[in-house]
Amino acid sequence: MSADTTTPADLVESLAAADLPALLKRSYARYSNFTVAAAVIDENGTVHLGVNVENAAYPSGTCAEQTAIGAMVTAGGRRIDKVLIAAGSNAVVQPCGACRQRIAEFASDACEIVSVQDGAPTKRTPFWGLLPESFGPRDLG
Ligand code: THU
Repeated sequence: MSADTTTPADLVESLAAADLPALLKRSYARYSNFTVAAAVIDENGTVHLGVNVENAAYPSGTCAEQTAIGAMVTAGGRRIDKVLIAAGSNAVVQPCGACRQRIAEFASDACEIVSVQDGAPTKRTPFWGLLPESFGPRDLG
């Protein structure tokens, strides 16, 4: 019998990914019909969930990543190790520009964006490749 090489971090990631298809049903995407669900995994391995929440005043809507980051901060998390993203279209979706900046505020050096399709992790993207040479907390001293 081969040894189980699954790490606790892998397990947390696969359980979070498996939650996202059901979470998509809670997205409030009344205007775009483009549903998105996100899971932020913090420095303690705690998972924080979010969906996009649109608004009749269109720019007032929030992205799924933004909702999940708010949940993390509210729960006391301060570092993001992974952001899992699932879209109702089942396509690979990368965070929008504004969400890249929001993630950058808390991203660890090894932070990954993990695409989720059919409830399973697929494409992995190192976060800092998506927002190199950015403005961040260090610039404010
Ligand atoms: N959206 C997200 O929630 N996350 C992304 O990474 C891309 C876009 C949302 C915003 C809006 O509610 C809908 O998708 C269409 O842009």
